[in-house]
Amino acid sequence: MTARSRGGAVRRIGVLTSGGDAPGMNAAIRAVVRSACAAGVEVVGIERGFHGLIHRQFVPMGSRSVSGIIYQGGTILHTARSEEFKSPEGRERAARNLAQAGIDGLVAIGGDGTYRGAVALAAEHGIPIIGVPGTIDNDIRGTLYTIGFDTAINTALDSIDRIRDTSEAHEKVSIVEVMGRMSGFIALEAGLAGGAEAVLIPERPVDYEALALAVKRWQAEGKRSSIIVVAEGAAKGESVARELEARAGVSARLTVLGYIQRGGRPTARDRVLATRFGHHAVRLLLEGHAGLMVGLGEGEQIATCPMERVMEGPRQPDNALLDLIAVTAT
Ligand code: F6P
Repeated sequence: MTARSRGGAVRRIGVLTSGGDAPGMNAAIRAVVRSACAAGVEVVGIERGFHGLIHRQFVPMGSRSVSGIIYQGGTILHTARSEEFKSPEGRERAARNLAQAGIDGLVAIGGDGTYRGAVALAAEHGIPIIGVPGTIDNDIRGTLYTIGFDTAINTALDSIDRIRDTSEAHEKVSIVEVMGRMSGFIALEAGLAGGAEAVLIPERPVDYEALALAVKRWQAEGKRSSIIVVAEGAAKGESVARELEARAGVSARLTVLGYIQRGGRPTARDRVLATRFGHHAVRLLLEGHAGLMVGLGEGEQIATCPMERVMEGPRQPDNALLDLIAVTAT
């Protein structure tokens, strides 16, 4: 099914953001709107993701409606996680609303849940959809980077640097819990860049005994401070603190970074990525493609993959980074 095969040229497209927001989503919306306008295509913003699709929360968007948003975190279209959209009835309503509003194709910006919803809507109702990966977790197959990841790791890194200052001053062990759902990308890259002594990720079983031994070794070797970065999907920071107390007699300080990782001004890299992705998504829709996700491939080139591929499971981080942390943190 292609956009054109539904009935000629694409005249009006919809754009939505769904799932957890990610810095750079606004830059992507801006690129979609401006690229479509430049091609003489109308744009309808769908507020609150799939929820807004079901409840017809539609706003017309012109070039000026996206002025001054490229540097803003969050998403001007708002976002939501919709339970209703998981049912065929919800998707039926959404498809009806799209048809009534004369929307020929959709750009869906979000993480893996967004693709599950988009694939179902396309399969059941033949809606042409192009996906744009936007999530701080960077766990989407088919792209080396997702919109928001670079900003999130730099936000986490800034905090890790600050925690290092005070840990060093007080000669303490610090635990920093970062987001990432069931994925360790944020922990790995922020941890590596922050010189963390250890990083715990969901993709590797946590070995508390080895960690306790390592903490004792670092202290014996004269390290005054140490930082353990824990991905939320690997363990709760509190549990790691408890285990260290019990096994190594070490009282560690815990910082849970939480939602600050999701907000804030997107980095230049995220803005550029978002603009390239958004522009390419519109181009694909106008060329009659559907069911694809835009991504970043080898050589920093824009790549595409079928949206179904995302549903094969989360992308796996490079285990070699963990080994690198182990070697360089000694
Ligand atoms: O997927 C992005 C993310 O921030 C994850 O890292 C985190 O686990 C989750 O969203 C939190 O979601 P919620 O907004 O439902 O608390």
